[in-house]
Amino acid sequence: MTISRGKSSSNWKAFSSHRNLLEKLILLLEAYCEENALKILLLILLLAIALLNFTFIDPALAAETSEASKATKIFNSNCASCHIGGGNILIAEKTLKKQALQHYLKDYDTNPIQAIIAQIQNGKNAMPAFKSKLSEQEILEVAAYVFQKAEQGW
Ligand code: HEC
Repeated sequence: MTISRGKSSSNWKAFSSHRNLLEKLILLLEAYCEENALKILLLILLLAIALLNFTFIDPALAAETSEASKATKIFNSNCASCHIGGGNILIAEKTLKKQALQHYLKDYDTNPIQAIIAQIQNGKNAMPAFKSKLSEQEILEVAAYVFQKAEQGW
């Protein structure tokens, strides 16, 4: 496509003679810049939210990790002597692995954590009861830990 000089210069003349149009164009340009500024503002806002989220998530993550290490400690000092690595040094087949739990623990399939809690609270045969040794909260934590480990395959 070729643009004839004469036409473009006459266009320019028409354009510059319409100050109104020029003003409109400037307004449009300003609006565009404003929109950009808005975009930048929005970006800053999003960044700020993201940063805030991180600072909110961090303590939650830290709490979760300390919960996990608390449960690990309870397990290591109360259960590992017989159940090291999720095994059972007294009755080899009665391990804390998922299959054994499903096989030997009553109601494990319908309510796994509750079933583990019952075993910890009351003990069974050679396993001592922990009702008077651990708090309810500690029993819950270590039961959840055993469940999680069983799901992960120890
Ligand atoms: C003195 C050793 C000993 C300690 C300490 C011990 N257990 Fe046990 N645990 C056993 C024995 C033995 C069995 C099998 C009981 C049975 O059915 O005859 C068992 C079974 C279990 C079972 C059922 C698993 C299965 O396959 O039948 C769970 C769950 C369990 N123990 C969790 C724990 C937890 C959690 C702790 C710590 C709070 C703990 N045990 C501490 C010896 C122990």
